Amino acid sequence: MIGSMEANRSVKAFDREVIHAGNKGLKIDHASISVEVDALLGSLSLGQKIHELHGWQMEPIDGFYYAGGDAALGIEPWKMADGPRGARVGKATAFPVAIARGATFDPELERRVGMAAGAEIAAKGGNVILAPTINLLRHPGWGRAQETYSEDTHHMGAMGVAYISGAQNWVLTSPKHFALNNLEMTRFQMSANANERVLHEVYLPHFKRCVVEGAAASVMSAYNRVNGVYCGEHPILLTDILREDWGFKGFVESDWILGTRSTAKAINAGMDIEMPVAYRFEREKVDAALSGGELDEAVITRNARRSLYQKLAWDIAGMDRPDASVVECEAHLELAREAAEKSFVLLKNESLLPLREDQRIAVVGELADTVNLGDRGSSMVQSTTAVTPLQGLQTYSNQVSVSYLGAETDPARLSAFDVCIVVAGLTYREEGEFIPIQQQEAEENSLARGGDRADLRLPAEQEDMINQAAAADVPVLVLVEAGSAIDMSVWIEKVAAVVMIWYPGCEGGHAVARVLFGDVNPSGRLPVSFPRALDQLMPWDIDALDVEHDLYHGYRYLDQKGETPLFPFGFGLSYTTFALDGLQVERAGDRFFFNVTVTNTGDRAGAAVVQLYQSNSGSQVERVMKEMKGFGRVEIEAGETIDLEIEVEDENLCYFEAGRGWLLEACEYHFRVGLSSDALELESVWAFDGEDWEPR
Ligand code: BGC
Repeated sequence: MIGSMEANRSVKAFDREVIHAGNKGLKIDHASISVEVDALLGSLSLGQKIHELHGWQMEPIDGFYYAGGDAALGIEPWKMADGPRGARVGKATAFPVAIARGATFDPELERRVGMAAGAEIAAKGGNVILAPTINLLRHPGWGRAQETYSEDTHHMGAMGVAYISGAQNWVLTSPKHFALNNLEMTRFQMSANANERVLHEVYLPHFKRCVVEGAAASVMSAYNRVNGVYCGEHPILLTDILREDWGFKGFVESDWILGTRSTAKAINAGMDIEMPVAYRFEREKVDAALSGGELDEAVITRNARRSLYQKLAWDIAGMDRPDASVVECEAHLELAREAAEKSFVLLKNESLLPLREDQRIAVVGELADTVNLGDRGSSMVQSTTAVTPLQGLQTYSNQVSVSYLGAETDPARLSAFDVCIVVAGLTYREEGEFIPIQQQEAEENSLARGGDRADLRLPAEQEDMINQAAAADVPVLVLVEAGSAIDMSVWIEKVAAVVMIWYPGCEGGHAVARVLFGDVNPSGRLPVSFPRALDQLMPWDIDALDVEHDLYHGYRYLDQKGETPLFPFGFGLSYTTFALDGLQVERAGDRFFFNVTVTNTGDRAGAAVVQLYQSNSGSQVERVMKEMKGFGRVEIEAGETIDLEIEVEDENLCYFEAGRGWLLEACEYHFRVGLSSDALELESVWAFDGEDWEPR
């Protein structure tokens, strides 16, 4: 919108045309599909309609969970597979976990990851990918934190919708778990309690964006309850909000097994498909509900229609499928590496990084030599090969001397090196989707225990290892593998550098080497605040059965309490430096265009993540101190200056009031822009008088 004065390169943050290109959900001809589906329904018996309402069996068939379908009628079944870090079917490309991709602050990259995962599902014969997970990280101790993108609503929406548009180039998506699923240990019983304002402003907008802007073709409901009602039979969530407010035209499927809690109640509320098998929705129970008057055949027809509608809209019988060679192809492995490289967050660097090839490097820690791709719950992806950090360093160049010491941290031994890299962190044992021990034993497998973390520190032996290495006369670099915030307070002062590498996917080891040696400049930013200690955050009880949700969590909570975290939301260092300048603001129609100039003031190319937050003054309602409203990741050459434009619609500046809906309050709006949530150096203040906007 704003013409640059010089010939700076212009970049648009979240370019909708780019992000949504090829999303088949956005190209549906609803008028003709409606006619077609009604004609089809007219020819179906009650039994055929009920068959559309559930999955086939507990275990996947050739890797996919089947639902509905009728061969005689030429109706294909749904063939669903997870998700969030790639295709969970046989061997597939294991991408860095979603929180890592959240750290890239790069929706365009996330669109490509979604597209690759969707292509692999399609190539293997599937038609629905059970992803993305877009449950807000209310507390970083949530076991499934790694599956989601962020603690921030706006950021979550941007990343989630990008994944959806990418994946929907090939298959249907199923953002999950609707809604407020953010505690693992009690996920089957707990009630997340929130008033309407909190629901609409904090916990639902990213779902809305995925449905309205991304045309997500299905939604998976959550196990937990919201305000006392199970999500799988929640008429307010499944019907009033999802369908009536947002105009959702897809189908809702339950989370597996315990996601469906009743027959008539669930079907009436808007649960369209019970997964993975008919238990509550088996024929006899549905018949009993019909004859008992709790259920009407018209409701069965309505729900079956939603599934059939998408089957016709997507023409799943004649779906385009890429060749099988796309699975784990070179391009997808490169994409996994690119995502890992862009996800690493440089948290501390006392002139240690980048490393030089002539330095003698000691590598310590069992995780250095372990394939550690994340939890072993439903989002686990198995790739044919996976490069560990040690392998990545060892194969980087034959000029580099890397000695692997395992768990050895003898100071005398370490002092003989120029650098000591400690790889520390968590594994599927300490966090992740919770797979109970009894189930593992019954299945005689080594699946995860996972679950929530009661506190945020590393296991004692990992902290001991870091402390011992730090006692040697050698600078220590710690690479942290984990799916969420880690309390580093007890050791961070003792080490020279720290890089958060999350669970970096099958190409993670190569990404580690390329970032540490400076081929790639680290550019990840934290999508979750890292507190100094657990008690900086809200009370956290992993056995809670009732959890009050309010406007405050993550940085909003820290702001409110006046707490300074160890590392704030949006923080991350680089091997170069950036300067922001000249925030210009224009209005056009119902929106703002913020234009900021970013210069790379260092001597190597790098990426800056410009972040925009809203604060209010003179407001008559309760407000958080700031909330993110936009961001843009920009790659900038050394010495280069670019213009970045961030667009914000008035709709996104509103607050929600029960009974009245979204309201744009007449008061002052402070738009603050910076390179991290704690460094918002540019500001533009505007006043809204109820009709017009004026700059202050
Ligand atoms: C998980 C879902 C997953 C489903 C199917 C459930 O236990 O909560 O996220 O999609 O299993 O694997």
